[in-house]
Order: sequence, then structure tokens, then C-alpha cells
Amino acid sequence: MTKILVTGGAGFIGSHTTVELQQQGYTVLIADNLSNTNAGVVDNIEKITSIRPLFEKVDLSVQTECAALFERHPDIEGVINFAAHKAVGESVEKPLMYYRNNLCIVLNVLNEMQRRGIKNFVQSSSCTVYGEPDQLPITETAPLKPALAPYGNTKKMVEDILQDCAKQDLVHAIALRYFNPIGAHPSALIGELPNGVPNNLMPFITQTAAGIREQLSVFGNDYNTPDGTCIRDYIHVVDLAKSHVAALRRLLQNEQKAHFETFNIGTGNGFSVLQVIQSFEKMSGRKLNYRIADRREGDIEKIWADTSYSNHELGWHAEQSLDDMTRDAWRWQLHLMES
Ligand code: WQD
Repeated sequence: MTKILVTGGAGFIGSHTTVELQQQGYTVLIADNLSNTNAGVVDNIEKITSIRPLFEKVDLSVQTECAALFERHPDIEGVINFAAHKAVGESVEKPLMYYRNNLCIVLNVLNEMQRRGIKNFVQSSSCTVYGEPDQLPITETAPLKPALAPYGNTKKMVEDILQDCAKQDLVHAIALRYFNPIGAHPSALIGELPNGVPNNLMPFITQTAAGIREQLSVFGNDYNTPDGTCIRDYIHVVDLAKSHVAALRRLLQNEQKAHFETFNIGTGNGFSVLQVIQSFEKMSGRKLNYRIADRREGDIEKIWADTSYSNHELGWHAEQSLDDMTRDAWRWQLHLMES
């Protein structure tokens, strides 16, 4: 059984990826410091797959802790890296925390991999590296733009680190550029666990419908879009999780065309905020209390992916619809309220 280290594997996307990896026959070792999740996620992964992932509570930004983990697990054959702080607004307020944590984790992990001759690395990257696109849909060859926040800059910097290490054949890496992950596993046993007031649209919608939040503010309806609200490429978190298995398989089977590759992971379809709300109301049967508010600083107007390269090279396609996403997000919120 091929053992894969999933850093941040108790988090939103990491837990869903762990489920897909296990269901494809991989042995998963989760290393997570539980700073933005809880150990109960590991129990729920086991409930879904009947296989308990290996789990170690580790702060990978501490070099000695990272080294000790690799010492305990000399049979790691690949790494999927989710471990990072990821709140855009917080990264503006606390840049040093973001640069230190997000970059030290990658540098420590790559260092241990290099010492042991482990080459396979899948990185959680983001479409935020594109900034405001010049043309749509956006392809992997589009020019990258300066990040608007330290969070997005750490994503770009990690890609640069991987590119330089790949040039020296120190790593065989794939960076998956996520668009907007939403939804939850259909079992409703794992999903997004936002700390405090959600920054992202989907958890704010489900918490408003659940009565946890008073009202959703729609950040602007005066954009140059059909209904005036921003457009994003929302992708079901299970589809996103499956793309990591496809990327890992490409690495393990030495199918890369270069030792550093990037892939857009989206659906190729853009939906506006109001379209997401309409889908949610249809799938939940709840009327959502929202108002049109001022624009949020830093928001880009519209972005959606050209996924043809991912589809062809990874043999992966997003399969879930926007209605599947909003349905599963609501089921997860209902589960949270029962537990
Ligand atoms: C989506 C749309 C908002 C909240 C961010 C990060 C990105 C990735 C995904 C981590 C926008 C609107 C939102 C609300 C609203 N994160 N909105 N009211 O900003 O596209 O991307 O999350 O990897 O890196 O930048 O996602 O969900 O915050 O916003 O109207 O209360 O919903 O204006 O148009 P975003 P989001």
C-alpha cells in the first residue's frame, strides 16, 4: 500500500481528499496541527471509508517536528500539502504569521523529502495567483499578477519554490490552482468548519439560513456582469478532492511532461452571487435573508477556468452541478446543527 502524507488533512479539502485517497487504495498519514479544525474529523473520515487514517498532531512549520515525523514514517512515497493559514483578510493584518507558517511548512517538508529522496509533491494552490484576468476563461498560461494579499502571495511564492526545486530535479511537483471550493461530502459527515464569522460566501449563506447569522450582505451589484454581482467558478469539494488523486497518480506513474506543472481545477462555468443564492434557495427550500451592500475591497469582478488542460492531462473532470454543491452545503449545515 502506497503511503501518502496529507498535510492539513483534517481540514476542509484535506479531509475530502483523504476519503478519495483511501477509496483508491492509498494509505493516508494525516499531519495536522488542528489550528483550524478538530480531531473528530479523523473519526468521521473513518465512518465514511471504514478505514482510520494514520493521524499525527504536528506543527510542520517547526523543523524538528517535521523531521521527527518523517523519521517515524520512512515509507512515505508522496506528499499532498494543504497545511496553511488561508484567511485572506487575516493575512493582511498578520503578514508575518502567514509568510512564516505557510512558507516554513513547505520548506521543512521539501527539506525532509530531499534528504530521503522522496520526490512526489502535490501543492494546494489557488486561482488567486491570476488576480483580475485579462481574458476569460483563464488558462494556466495566463500571466500571473501581483497578489492583493499575503495569503495569495504565499501561494505564488510556493509555486516559485517548487519551480526552482524542480529545475534541479529535487522534486516532481504539481500545483493545483483551485477556483472556489464549496459544498461537502454527500454523507454530511465532513465539510467546511469556518472559525468565527465566515469570510466565504457559501458558509455565510448556510449559517444565515440556519439562523446563526442575521443576514447575508451581497458585496455589490454594480459590477459589469449580467446581474451586477461577481462571478466565480464554484467547484464541489469532492470533485476538487478527486483532482488530487489524479495529480498524485500522474506523479507516481511518471507521466509528467515537466517536473513542475500547474493545473486549473474548476468547472469551467462561472456563476454569480445571486445565482448561487437562487440555487441554494431551490435546494434548501429556504428563503435567504440578504441585502445588497457595498463592494468588498479586493474582490475581482469575474473569473472562471479553462479546464481543458486539466481534463486532458489529468484525465479528470468536475462532475457536480451548482445545485449539487448548494444541496450538500446545506446538508452539512443541518448535520452541524444536530451534533
Ligand atoms: C465569493 C463571492 C464575494 C461573502 C476566496 C479566496 C480564495 C479562496 C476562496 C482559499 C465574491 C461574494 C462573499 C459574503 C458576498 N480561498 N461574497 N458576501 O473571495 O472568490 O475567494 O475564497 O483558497 O483564495 O480569495 O471567495 O467566497 O469570499 O467570495 O457577496 O458574505 O461572494 O464578493 O464575489 P473569493 P468568497
